[in-house]
Amino acid sequence: MQDFKFKRNKLFCEQVSLQAIADKLGTPLFVYSYNGLISSFNALKQAFSRVSPLICYSVKVNSNLSVCRVLAQQGAGMDIVSGGELFRAKKIKVPGKKIVYSSVGKTEAEIEAGIKAGILFFNAESVPELELINKTAFKLGKIQKVAVRINPDVEAYTHRYITTAKKQNKFGIDLMTSRYIFLTLSSKFKNLDLCGIHMHIGSQILKNIPFAQAMEKAVKLITELSEKGVKITHLNIGGGIGIVYNQEKALDLCAYASSVIKAVENIDLKLILEPGRFIAGNAGVLLAKILYIKQTPVKHFIIVDTAMNDLIRPAFYQAYHQVIPVCMRKKTELYKTDIVGPVCESSDFLAKDRFLPDWLKQNDLLAVMSAGAYGFVMSSNYNSRPRAAEVLVKADKYYLIRKRDSFGDLVGNEIVCNV
Ligand code: LLP
Repeated sequence: MQDFKFKRNKLFCEQVSLQAIADKLGTPLFVYSYNGLISSFNALKQAFSRVSPLICYSVKVNSNLSVCRVLAQQGAGMDIVSGGELFRAKKIKVPGKKIVYSSVGKTEAEIEAGIKAGILFFNAESVPELELINKTAFKLGKIQKVAVRINPDVEAYTHRYITTAKKQNKFGIDLMTSRYIFLTLSSKFKNLDLCGIHMHIGSQILKNIPFAQAMEKAVKLITELSEKGVKITHLNIGGGIGIVYNQEKALDLCAYASSVIKAVENIDLKLILEPGRFIAGNAGVLLAKILYIKQTPVKHFIIVDTAMNDLIRPAFYQAYHQVIPVCMRKKTELYKTDIVGPVCESSDFLAKDRFLPDWLKQNDLLAVMSAGAYGFVMSSNYNSRPRAAEVLVKADKYYLIRKRDSFGDLVGNEIVCNV
């Protein structure tokens, strides 16, 4: 996380002290680095520069309008999964021609909105969905580009909840059915331009092998189809590139890019990428304030004002996020502790069995690292806790990009009925 560094014992995001931002805006607080976002986007762009792909940032990862806009300004398209995400993309004026839409459960209204917005591709995940897109396009008098999301049945070696391309998973269409769609069913779909293959095999993947295996299957399918007269013009290889949360070995981005490029260099097609975590994950932290320090007969706890409702990854996937003090003091003893929130669940922890300095005290700040991806977007109001504020730092300035929920926001949509 090169944009989060200590200077004179204080943790900074770019040139702004995190303590100073929290003193002004309070905690829980997500802080994102502008440079962190664009440098990872540009590293990806650079690695694939020989084939200049369309890089569609995966909005679900961190859908704050300002974050998406920063990336759109760098030339990113958007990978969306709902009408809500389409609304966001349109709000920041991402051209329809740079939007791709995945999801196993697109509703008719969402399909209609996507066609009207002129999106580049629907990544279709079932035959009935193809039928509905075709019917809707017919109704609107349009021909819609569609990619078939294939399920290549590969092991992604990641958490089982975020593995998406095993045949047991709900995602995509098996290879045999995909062939049948292109070769036989397609003639039925007069309002579809079935010219793309899409895949997304999972998330937080740190090995090249699963990507290479999926690629091999996709290229084989594209070649077979071309021999039978069906031309695939776009291959969307999805997202999934993992990041370093702790001590993992990073994926070799250049090796990954080279193997993708090598696999498609003799085929005339446009590549699309849908990265998310790789762009935003290490560009953000979550700041928490220590409320109490509690020693029980068997365990030590640091209780903070930030909880599973703010960052659910540790509770949900047993995910590891580094936790570090925002202001360092003299070196002393470390003690083993759990960092927990106020929510009424024993799964409400941010970190377990961590070694932290014994000088930590009430009101000190902790930074939960690598919280830029799947952080705020997965947060909730559980326990009627207002959702956190979000801040974007660029050089020596910071900008509030989402206000903290007020208590009014918590009940704003509720109706007290007279029963
Ligand atoms: N494309 C599709 C179709 C996806 O389903 C996803 C993520 C992406 C792209 C972006 O994947 P990425 O580059 O970020 O790996 N909440 C989980 C991760 C869920 C991933 C969902 N799909 C977590 O916190 O680890």
